[in-house]
Amino acid sequence: MSEFITVKKRTHYCGAIRAEDAGKTVILMGWVQRRRDHGGVIFVDLRDREGLVQIVFNPELNPAVHQEAHKIRSEYVLAVQGKVRKRPEGMENPDLLTGGIEVMIDELEILNESKTPPFVLDAGEEISENVRLKYRYLDLRRPELQKKIILRSQTATATREYFHGQGFIEVETPFLTKSTPEGARDYLVPSRVNQGMFYALPQSPQIFKQLLMVSGFDRYYQIVKCFRDEDLRSDRQPEFTQVDVEMSFIDENDIITVMEGYMSHVFKACLGLTLKTPFPRIAYQDAIDRYGKDSPDIRFSMELKDLTDILRDSGFNLFQEVAASGGVIKAIKIEDGKKLSRKDLDGLRDYVANYGAKGLAWARVIPDGWTSPIFKFLKPMEIQQINARMEVQEGDLMVFVADKPGIVRDSLGNLRIHVAKQLGLIDPAALAFTWVTEFPLMEYSDTAKRFVSTHHPFTSPVMEDLPFLETDPGRVRARAYDLVLNGSEIGGGSIRIHSQKVQAMIFKALGLGQEEARSKFGFLLDALEYGTPPHGGIAFGFDRLIMLMTGTDSIRDVIAFPKTQKAACLLTDAPSTVSIEQLLELSLKVVQ
Ligand code: AMO
Ligand code: AMP
Repeated sequence: MSEFITVKKRTHYCGAIRAEDAGKTVILMGWVQRRRDHGGVIFVDLRDREGLVQIVFNPELNPAVHQEAHKIRSEYVLAVQGKVRKRPEGMENPDLLTGGIEVMIDELEILNESKTPPFVLDAGEEISENVRLKYRYLDLRRPELQKKIILRSQTATATREYFHGQGFIEVETPFLTKSTPEGARDYLVPSRVNQGMFYALPQSPQIFKQLLMVSGFDRYYQIVKCFRDEDLRSDRQPEFTQVDVEMSFIDENDIITVMEGYMSHVFKACLGLTLKTPFPRIAYQDAIDRYGKDSPDIRFSMELKDLTDILRDSGFNLFQEVAASGGVIKAIKIEDGKKLSRKDLDGLRDYVANYGAKGLAWARVIPDGWTSPIFKFLKPMEIQQINARMEVQEGDLMVFVADKPGIVRDSLGNLRIHVAKQLGLIDPAALAFTWVTEFPLMEYSDTAKRFVSTHHPFTSPVMEDLPFLETDPGRVRARAYDLVLNGSEIGGGSIRIHSQKVQAMIFKALGLGQEEARSKFGFLLDALEYGTPPHGGIAFGFDRLIMLMTGTDSIRDVIAFPKTQKAACLLTDAPSTVSIEQLLELSLKVVQ
C-alpha cells in the first residue's frame, strides 16, 4: 500500500506550480515524460493533465532517493515529495508555465512501471493514426489531445449553463427506437424478446423532441449521441453528438436569436472571445450562386460570377456549345494572380477535374488586355464586359469553368477554397458565422428517382409555396436554416409541420403511400391530431463545433474514442464477430 496515496495525498498538479510556490514543500504525482542524467544529477519532466514540471534528484540531497531514481523510465508513474525552488539563473525555460522553477526531490515512490510505449508521446502528429488509435489511452496522454478533450468538457458545461439559464428542460430520449425512412442508413439492433424484429439507433431525437412539444415541455434540449451509417469523412463519425433543441410558440427569428446567444455564451466562456451578433444571413440560392456551396466560407471573397450571358455568343465554340445546351460559364477572380505560375494553373486544372470539370480556362489582366489561351476567341467588347463584371485590376487572374451548372458549382466552389488555402488568404483567427435560409423543401434524387427531403420530412414548407407541391415540388421553399462557421455546417433545423393535413401532403409528395406513412410515422400523425403547438428547433453538431473551436481539421481529434474511416474502433476491435450462441439467441444467421 502506498503511503503517498493513503496518507500523504497530492498537494499540487505538476503543471500548476508557479514561481510564487518557491520554498513550499509539495507532493506531486504523475507520469515521466523524460529522464535526463546530468553527471550525477537526474532531471525528470513529470507530467499530469495540467502540464509538465521539472523535478530534480540530487545525490547530495538524498543519496538513497537519487539511487532509486536510476530506475525511472519514460511513462513510469511516480509519487514524489520535494521543495520548490527558483531555477538557477540562465536555466529557465520560457516555453513552460513551470519553466521558472524546479522541485528538489527528497522522497520518491515508483507507483507503477510502464512498458516502452509504441510511440514517443511528445513527437507530435507524425505517428501513424492507426497506431495512435490502437493505443488511444496513451495517445490521450498527449497534452494537445488532453487540451481538446478538456475544452470539449468545458463547452458541454457552458452549453448546459446557457440552456438552463434560458429555461430549457433536459430530457433523455431512447436509443433503442424505431427505424424510420428518409435519412442516412440506420444502425440496427436485433431484439431477442421479439425475434426477427429490430430496433434502430436514433439518427437524431427528431420525432421525440417534437412529441415533447406536443406534451407541453415548451423548451427542450439534450446533449445526445446520434448514429448514422453513412460514408465517413474528416468531419463525420458514425456516432456523433448533437446539442439538440426544440421550442414551442416561436418562429425562425426566435430560434436564431436563442442560438446566437448560445454561440456567444460558449465562445466567451470557453475561449474568451466576443462574437458579433446578429450573424449575417444568406439565402440558399444566393449561397449556391455566389459561393458554389450551401455552407459558404465567407472568411474571404473570391465569389463566383456568372458570365454566361456575355459569353454565349463568343467566338469560343466550347462556351457557345455549353451555353446552348443549358450549361453555364462562371469565373472567380484571384487577386494578385502573379503568385500562381503556369504550373500552378495546371495544378488547378487537375484539381477541378476531380469535380468533373473538363477544363479550366484562365486569363491574366495586363495593361492592354489579357494573357490567356482564350483571348484570341473573344471580342474586345466581351473582354471589357467581363473585366467590368469581375471587377478586375491589372495583375489579377481569372479562372473560368464552362459546364453543366452542378459541375461548375462544385468545381469553382471547391477551387475557391483550395486557392484561398494555397495563397494563405484565410485569417486563421477569423470566425465567420452565417445562417443559410430558404432551402428548398425537396430535391430530386437521381438514385431514388423521386423527390427527397432536403432536411427531413417534418420541416414546414413556406406556406405561400404550398400550391407548387404538386406541380413543381423543387420550387417549394422550406422554413429551414443551417448555421455555418468558416465553411462548415455546424447546425441545422427548421420550423416543423404542426398540422396533420400538411404532414400527410408532404409524405405524399415524397412518394410515401398512405399505408406506408401510417406504418412508419403513424404515432407522429396521431400525435399531431391532439393539439400540437407551433414549434421548431435545431441541432448543433457538437463534435464539429469543438473541432472549429480547437482549430483542428479532424473530428477524430475531439472525440476521446473515435472510429476510423471504416467505422472501426481499433482499440477494442469493434465491430467483431459474435458467438454462435449469441446469434442463435437472436435467431440470426450470418450469410457470407
Ligand atoms: P442534421 O442532420 O442537419 O439535423 O444534423 C445536425 C448537425 O449534426 C452534425 N452532423 C454530424 N456530425 C458528425 N458526424 C456526422 N455523421 C454528422 N451528421 C450530422 C452537423 C449537422 O449540422 N434532427 C435534425 C435537426 C433539427 O431539425 O432540429 C438533424 O439531425 O453539424
Ligand atoms: P483549347 O482551345 O482546347 O486549348 O482550350 C482553351 C482553354 O479552355 C484551355 O485553357 C482549356 O483548359 C480551357 N477549357 C477547356 N474546356 C473547358 C471548360 N469546360 N471550361 C472552361 N475552360 C475550358
